[in-house]
Amino acid sequence: MNKPNNQPLLEPIRLGKLDLSNRIAMAPLTRMRAANPDLAPTGLHADYYAQRASAGLIVSEGIFVSPDAVGWADVPGLWSDAQVRGWGAVTEAVHRAGGRIVAQLWHTGSLGHPDFDGGKAPPSASAVNPEQQSVTPTGKKETVVPRPMDKDEIRRTVADFGRAARNAIAAGFDGVQIQGGYHYLFNQFLNIRTNLRTDEYGGSVENRARLLFDVLETVVDTVGAHRTGIKTGPVTLETGAFVSNEATLATSEYVIDRLNDYDLSHLLLMGQMADLSATPLAALAGDGMFRHFRAFYRGHIIANVGIDRTRGNRLIEAGLADMVAFGRPFIANPDLPTRFAIDAPLAEVVWPNVYGPTAEGYTDYPVLSQ
Ligand SMILES: Cc1cc2nc3c(=O)[nH]c(=O)nc-3n(C[C@H](O)[C@H](O)[C@H](O)COP(=O)(O)O)c2cc1C
Repeated sequence: MNKPNNQPLLEPIRLGKLDLSNRIAMAPLTRMRAANPDLAPTGLHADYYAQRASAGLIVSEGIFVSPDAVGWADVPGLWSDAQVRGWGAVTEAVHRAGGRIVAQLWHTGSLGHPDFDGGKAPPSASAVNPEQQSVTPTGKKETVVPRPMDKDEIRRTVADFGRAARNAIAAGFDGVQIQGGYHYLFNQFLNIRTNLRTDEYGGSVENRARLLFDVLETVVDTVGAHRTGIKTGPVTLETGAFVSNEATLATSEYVIDRLNDYDLSHLLLMGQMADLSATPLAALAGDGMFRHFRAFYRGHIIANVGIDRTRGNRLIEAGLADMVAFGRPFIANPDLPTRFAIDAPLAEVVWPNVYGPTAEGYTDYPVLSQ
């Protein structure tokens, strides 16, 4: 048991060229507050992120790289001047409060819905319904069969990530994180169930990973490896087309091993999200995820999912992680590092207004002294 004032989570760390005051990251959290025609962040976003600036590093909510990437309602983007201006106010507020913030770059692929694009099916690797739910402007709907991306669209998508990364730096972000995991576009290419392509983007693991590495190289060329991080790994909800299979682990091992070729800022690695006991990922349950991939990856690992203060300190002390990202705890505790420092109780998330357009449930969680 760590004494409150002697916690690895509270030690500083250097990520890329960023000196962070502690090892507590705020995990990316979609909050659906960009309910405006520009899909631009507002003053509400600036207040929300500034309130959480005592995190060593804030990873922004997923931000769409282009109109084609949009597949979740009221989520902000990073392709237009209005969006860059909006994010500029956010990063300025975070920096004024002493924080650091990177932009998570997102493309939902087949997790989108025809409702976002005048009835047109969303883009993905192949015409395979991921059998998930899409959060559309009129509520959750079942996903549909997507349309396979052609080579031009793949090239455009790679360029869209490059533009979004450039815009992120123009907007004052300290770096970017590619959303390379979960059920979204890159995992749709990596997953043998959702990628049936026979061109150079399908088949072998090298081919299935080509889009991810094309994007990674473009982003690295645009903003520098020291300002580029990635969220990737084998974790899914184990539902629909995203039930782990015989290729899942080897695919993630290939990707994470190859990340060593770049001197990236960080790898955000999710621990298990579902019961893995009867799956090919059974050995990755609990700390197994971090133990397994620590052996593959030489850079900084940010561990995530269901981690509390005690376990977070233990993971860092054991060398299994360099930082820990907290998602749900940061929704309800804007001053999470202070609470950890004095081992104060944590407030609980009020779920009905986690998603929604107003300040309620967003910027009204008090800090401890209040
Ligand atoms: C409300 C909510 C929104 C989320 N939005 C995102 C997102 O935009 N991008 C992402 O990569 N993960 C997202 N996640 C996943 C979190 O980043 C994190 O992985 C998850 O909450 C587990 O961490 P925790 O147990 O500390 O909450 C979201 C999770 C929640 C609860």
